[in-house]
Amino acid sequence: MRTVIVSGASSGIGRATAARFARAGDRVFNLDVTAPQGPDATDAPGTPDDTGASAEVRWLEVDTADWAAVREAVRRVHEETGRLDVVIANAGISVRHGVLDIEEADARRITDVNLLGVLGLWQAAARVMTAGDGGVLLATASVNGRRGYPRYADYNATKAGIVALTQTFAMELAPLVRVACVSPGAVLTPMQLAEYTGEMLDATNARIPAGRHAAPEEIAAAFHYLASPEARFLTGQELVVDGGETAGATTSDWGTALPAARN
Ligand SMILES: NC(=O)c1ccc[n+]([C@@H]2O[C@H](COP(=O)([O-])OP(=O)(O)OC[C@H]3O[C@@H](n4cnc5c(N)ncnc54)[C@H](O)[C@@H]3O)[C@@H](O)[C@H]2O)c1
Repeated sequence: MRTVIVSGASSGIGRATAARFARAGDRVFNLDVTAPQGPDATDAPGTPDDTGASAEVRWLEVDTADWAAVREAVRRVHEETGRLDVVIANAGISVRHGVLDIEEADARRITDVNLLGVLGLWQAAARVMTAGDGGVLLATASVNGRRGYPRYADYNATKAGIVALTQTFAMELAPLVRVACVSPGAVLTPMQLAEYTGEMLDATNARIPAGRHAAPEEIAAAFHYLASPEARFLTGQELVVDGGETAGATTSDWGTALPAARN
């Protein structure tokens, strides 16, 4: 039975990811500042609810921007289970604001959680993994790190930074530890629902070749693959799971963006 840590697993992508690993038989620990949320409207049809899925996910109240608290949580998990196989740094926050209006406190907090939070958790885990049999370090980046998405400059920069961390950790820790990140496109989670109106969600769907947001479970599936022996030759890479959003040139006419009569 593997020991798996997922940060930010009380909600959204992290919650679906922790549930996926737990259902597959792993021992899963959720490092989150808030308590686990119940089943919500973003759950994909057929997803087992919390009573079955996250009963086996243990919540540890941790702010992942606090490196000392993160180190202590990793130590506890390792001491209790005697191993540490997979760590997924997923906790993240965003604030919608234009570059002229960004408040220093917001930008610092976003950087502390989204970028330095990944660095601190990966470092704590890597110290344990490199002293033992190795393991897999994963994180949630975003397509926002690959393009200029307006109103999220600080957030976008943290996500591009995660790709740089992925490449550097992979170089330094190979072959004992594999490292990768997943860059989701638009995913229907509480984070997305908090910042987008129904109209904005529809407009976003129209610009995604797949014609819709991802379900959190579709990102969880990518993490599950990356953590599996099937991916044993994969390290230092970013896996983009975005329904085709960033595949084309921005001025091209892709099928779903055209009126039906022109298809
Ligand atoms: N939803 C999307 O469309 C989307 C797209 C690309 C990337 N992402 C990324 O996916 C990750 C998860 O986002 P989500 O959409 O599931 O959001 P969410 O808000 O549903 O969940 C985020 C979780 O992280 C926790 N968290 C926040 N700050 C924390 C901290 N300092 N310490 C510990 N836990 C903390 C929250 O309590 C929450 O449980 C984030 O890194 C986000 O940037 C989301």
